Amino acid sequence: MCGIVGYIGKQRALPIILDGLKALEYRGYDSAGVAVVGKHGKGFQVRFAKAPGRISVLEGKLGDGTDFEGNVGIAHTRWATHGEPNEVNAHPHHDCKNNIFLAHNGIIENYKDLKSELLEKGHVFCSETDTETLVHLIEDMRDSDPNSTFEEVVMKALRRVRGTYGLAILDRREPEKIVAVRNFSPLLLGVGDGEYIIGSDASAVLKYTRQIVYLNDGEIAVLTPSRHHIFTLENQTVMRAPQEIDWTIEQAERGNYPHFMAKEIFEQPESIENSLRGRLVPEEGLAKLGGLESVEKDLRKAKRLIIAACGTAYYAGMVGKYMLEEYAGIPTEVDLASEFRYRKPVFREGDIFLAISQSGETADTLAALREAKQKGVLTLGIVNAVGSTIARETDAGVYQHIGPEIGVASTKAFTSQLTILALLTLFLGRQREMSITIGRRIAEELKQLPILVGRVLAGHQNIQTIVKKYSAHRNFLYLGRKYNFPVALEGALKLKEISYVHAEGCSAGEMKHGPIALIDETFPSIFLAPSDSVYEKVSSNIQEIKARRGPVIAIGTEGNGDLKRFTNDVIYIPKTLEMLTPMLSVVPLQLFAYYAALIKGCDVDKPRNLAKSVTVE
Ligand code: AGP
Ligand code: GLU
Repeated sequence: MCGIVGYIGKQRALPIILDGLKALEYRGYDSAGVAVVGKHGKGFQVRFAKAPGRISVLEGKLGDGTDFEGNVGIAHTRWATHGEPNEVNAHPHHDCKNNIFLAHNGIIENYKDLKSELLEKGHVFCSETDTETLVHLIEDMRDSDPNSTFEEVVMKALRRVRGTYGLAILDRREPEKIVAVRNFSPLLLGVGDGEYIIGSDASAVLKYTRQIVYLNDGEIAVLTPSRHHIFTLENQTVMRAPQEIDWTIEQAERGNYPHFMAKEIFEQPESIENSLRGRLVPEEGLAKLGGLESVEKDLRKAKRLIIAACGTAYYAGMVGKYMLEEYAGIPTEVDLASEFRYRKPVFREGDIFLAISQSGETADTLAALREAKQKGVLTLGIVNAVGSTIARETDAGVYQHIGPEIGVASTKAFTSQLTILALLTLFLGRQREMSITIGRRIAEELKQLPILVGRVLAGHQNIQTIVKKYSAHRNFLYLGRKYNFPVALEGALKLKEISYVHAEGCSAGEMKHGPIALIDETFPSIFLAPSDSVYEKVSSNIQEIKARRGPVIAIGTEGNGDLKRFTNDVIYIPKTLEMLTPMLSVVPLQLFAYYAALIKGCDVDKPRNLAKSVTVE
């Protein structure tokens, strides 16, 4: 999610900071920009360029870069939290006099108060971002305290700021200096011979150096071509030797995880947090979805929602149906996009079409979307890849904001899609009959989700032990009801697509209509059995399986010790609202599939026969 790069040394800065931005693309972003200090005429000026979309669009604006001579520069990939992803809101941001330029990762929480104060003092703002407040605050402090050093002024300004930030800041009046700050947004220094490269992670600097100095939260680094100083924000000197790192760039992107899939499973607390960021108004029990503001009135008149998607995204849509009908009271249909595009869908006045797609390029989902547009239906998207075809062709939508999902098996994208469907339920429900009380309850429970998912992940070793116990089995049945029926389908998909073990998802209520014929002691069943409105029915189904000697693994709610009495193994998840349980109950199934694939020695991130984005029919 977003990234910062900086360079100071004896080489031209522009190509190096562009290399760094490209190395950080995997983190996900919606716009980008660069600023380079160079000698123009008698003095130093800053040349800067910014653009929405891919880095290639920014490169197009830079042309051959001749106007961007200079050995000091900063660059940024943005992932918008305050202000649409467009050119004016892209970073670096500058002060009133184009002296100070700043790139920021994170959120300035008290920016509104600071901005009002600075506006009263006559500062002129160009953007809607929280970040721009910071650069004017530094300008204001510098103007009123000309004798302090640049870094002293930055430290002073940051004492007035609440929030998270990784920063790279330059001032054309001190052209041989960059100030870097880390406070809950990652930042490190690549140490070269008479040069430094700042990066959000090692992948941004590895092409030029393997000597890395990591900054800790609350630290500021002052870089000149010949040396660096690190201080705490309380002005205490920090001595820290560079570390030699021997990672490849891909390893740098994977961090300490052996596979991208593992990284993406374990970063779900953060990815759910990111999908929620800036979108909840708990005290009003509301969801704030900026991407739907343009169609808010149409949504108020919506009479039916038609969801089309593929694979995991389709299962997310199935969960969404339960949410939207139970809590927003809006009739919802869910279709496999590959079926939707060939059948003759009958649209009515007030229909809204919703495409769900992590990649935003899935051919069947795109074709279904185009069919809906052809019939004049208002179209929405829940998409992760910014600027992707589905994102561009829908009338409005909500970005997932979880950074790219590299592992072919979709994990964090699924829980993010469910999170956004819960936000959409809140949004539509509060336009309709949902009370503020129910809205507040849903909003509060949504806020807790990242912590609750973290608690499920903490039990990963127990899950790995259970997987080993069943590793000889060649077939599994996954069963659930209501909100957890789609989770059963998703769990079965995860197992088969990365471990190649056969698994079938099934509605627990359907078991008696055929699938139970499969059951004997060689055929384990995995039940989604949280303590919810259908628990009694599910527990009866478990008994029916046990009566036929079928082994049973259950996903149950913490505190339900009774479950242990009639199952072989239980994996517990925390209590939450029934509609939010799928974000928790799917996590043990993701881990189950991951550990099963490891035992079988499968290529977890690139399973056979599969592609990350199915851009062909
Ligand atoms: C799920 O693990 C698979 N990767 C696949 O089913 C995927 O969900 C499906 O192809 C849809 O992809 P999309 O979300 O990018 O449209
Ligand atoms: N909050 C800032 C913005 O919206 C920074 C976002 C980021 O981390 O890229 O521009």
